[in-house]
Amino acid sequence: MATLADKRKIAIPAATLAILAAVLTVGLVILANVTRDRIARNQQAWIKQHLDALVPPQSYDNDPLADTTQVLSPDLLGSTTPVVVYRLRKEGLPVAVAIRSIAPDGYRGPLELLVAIAPGGQLLGVQVIRHNETPGLGDAFENRDADWLGRFRGSSLTNPPQQRWTVRRDGGDFDAFTGATITPRAIVKAVRRTLEFYQGNEDRLYQDGTPP
Ligand SMILES: Cc1cc2nc3c(=O)[nH]c(=O)nc-3n(C[C@H](O)[C@H](O)[C@H](O)COP(=O)(O)O)c2cc1C
Repeated sequence: MATLADKRKIAIPAATLAILAAVLTVGLVILANVTRDRIARNQQAWIKQHLDALVPPQSYDNDPLADTTQVLSPDLLGSTTPVVVYRLRKEGLPVAVAIRSIAPDGYRGPLELLVAIAPGGQLLGVQVIRHNETPGLGDAFENRDADWLGRFRGSSLTNPPQQRWTVRRDGGDFDAFTGATITPRAIVKAVRRTLEFYQGNEDRLYQDGTPP
């Protein structure tokens, strides 16, 4: 039969282990929360940087990262899951929306875009915020043709006319990249479709709640 001394011999290390395990668990939970918060903050800063490249921060006075809605339109926005829309306002009035639409037909998979559109449907600009296109070929908008995305600024569904909303090779108004037509074709098509989505949903996009 175990004596009191024997029981103590077992109980003390067991209790120490239990305390250590509890401290470790609490530490891991705290670390996970801190890491999650940091990732969320980094993502917010990352998207804000892209927004700032499209819309001058002094032109709106709300926090677009906190003024979002989600919309679903697989045909026009290229995603089977809802995409985020940031709303920019000044004194409560609409300044722009920035839609995170998808160009599904990239050479190496979908590209994620941020498409900023002013009331009335004029493009303020387009950023490619995520992609896997081939370095040196399909990613020319990041380096070789760094001003290529600027071509969208001021465009709308009627400017250029709808049938010219594609790359020159297909009879459109948009340059392709040297040796790489698939990527620009996919981007131009996705931007046009995002504008089409906007045209059909403009009022609802600025309303509270999630548009159907
Ligand atoms: C390894 C490899 C990677 C390629 N990556 C891309 C790409 O990221 N984007 C693209 O548009 N074309 C890419 N291409 C070229 C396409 O296959 C296609 O030839 C081109 O887009 C058609 O453009 P063109 O009609 O101007 O020749 C790649 C080709 C190869 C062989």
